[in-house]
Amino acid sequence: DQNKFQAIISHCKEYGFIFQSSEIYDGLSAVYDYGQYGAELKKNIKDYWWKSMTQMHDNIVGIDAAIFMHPSTWKASGHVDSFSDPMIDNKDSKKRYRVDHLIEGFAATMNPEEGASLIKEMEQLEAAGDYKGLKDLIDRHKIKCSVSGTANWTDIRQFNLMFSTQLGSVAEEASEIYLRPETAQGIFVNFLNVQKTGRMKIPFGIAQIGKAFRNEIVARQFIFRMREFEQMEMQFFVRPGTEMEWYNYWKEERLKWHKSLGINPERLRFHNHTKLAHYANAALDIEYDFPIGFKELEGIHSRTDFDLKNHQELSGKKMQYFDPEINKNYIPYVVETSVGLDRTVMMILSEAYEEQDLSTEEKQDSRVVLKFPAKIAPIKLAVFPLTKKDGLPEIAKTIMDQGRPHFRCFYEEKDAIGKRYRRQDAIGTPFCVTVDHQTKEDNTVTIRYRDTMEQERIGIDQLIELVNRKIAE
Ligand code: GAP
Repeated sequence: DQNKFQAIISHCKEYGFIFQSSEIYDGLSAVYDYGQYGAELKKNIKDYWWKSMTQMHDNIVGIDAAIFMHPSTWKASGHVDSFSDPMIDNKDSKKRYRVDHLIEGFAATMNPEEGASLIKEMEQLEAAGDYKGLKDLIDRHKIKCSVSGTANWTDIRQFNLMFSTQLGSVAEEASEIYLRPETAQGIFVNFLNVQKTGRMKIPFGIAQIGKAFRNEIVARQFIFRMREFEQMEMQFFVRPGTEMEWYNYWKEERLKWHKSLGINPERLRFHNHTKLAHYANAALDIEYDFPIGFKELEGIHSRTDFDLKNHQELSGKKMQYFDPEINKNYIPYVVETSVGLDRTVMMILSEAYEEQDLSTEEKQDSRVVLKFPAKIAPIKLAVFPLTKKDGLPEIAKTIMDQGRPHFRCFYEEKDAIGKRYRRQDAIGTPFCVTVDHQTKEDNTVTIRYRDTMEQERIGIDQLIELVNRKIAE
């Protein structure tokens, strides 16, 4: 639903969630900044993931590795040689396309049967590395499909997705290094440091949240595909031969986690990979039904000993673990869970966003509401004095003082109450309280619930506990 997608993008900008990066200079493509509410939302999701991985699993610890890594890292991981996409340039429009996306575009204009057979043909050529065949395929279809008209195309070339830069201040001393395209390698190279200093016993995991960078070619989908983004990854080290058991365990655990964020299970599904990455012996995606359709949210990969073995080879340092239970040394196998933080934000926004018609016979009315689960909402409690006088702001401020140490509160005294409620609906604040003249008599306030818009009176002394309870749910 493109309309909903566009509406969410506009809403995010209007209400301080997400801005185009460097907007005053007309923006930087596929790079975004999180505003005041987006940053809170993102941080709450991060904290929730971190807690559910580390605090809730005694055998998982978290680290925070550097973005820059020794260049050999990316040789060992296979990124220097194979982290690239076949690309083609259109000589007329000067636009660059990923070959698979271009052909998928062709397929979308055909009837389903023809389209499917075209995709199949493309996959076979891709698997065989037959670029000439792929080019022929494009040439054969470009006239038929309006996507490209009769355009001229260059040859197909490989385009590495890693960003590089220079380390060192003097040209002769500088060496080319990369911005990491995944956080995982920071975990692999620290595997023994953590295992030894933490006295970790297999099976155990290492979790990390951090930025990753990819020079994505097709990047027109808001925060779905960015050039600078954040990953939340966990590498779980296991005894070889037990990896499928853990793969199945983590795939279910991760699905449960997404559901625990209030996501409708019908909008989540597994997608098994038939074409496996160079490092994997089993892989699947957890997909979410975004307004732009079902798309990858998280990858679960059984990576075997691919990474540790290659790091051992290239560094000459042993990457082995002594397993006292079977009295053996081995390089552990790895099951990885890798979820995009920004894609999780986009899922939460898509799930939460609702335009509601509240019209009655007397008057037309509507609202946009973000139905975030209370535990990740940017603001938990808004506090409004009904008027700016009669001592009501003073009482409201004492409520702010009580709430502030527990959770993010928001104070507002301008405009009619109805308008103030709407503004909080639009940023997803689950609870609003209004201080009125009755408060002065009996120390009660009106609490208004975002989703139902129902209101009730409760004692000020019960307020903090109630909100804390809802956040913990
Ligand atoms: N360590 C494994 C790995 O990086 P991946 O499938 O390439 O696997 C994992 O990436 C997750 O990172 C994806 O499922 C997605 O959520 C997120 N991700 C990847 N590229 C992204 C991009 N350009 N923009 C936003 N998120 C991205």
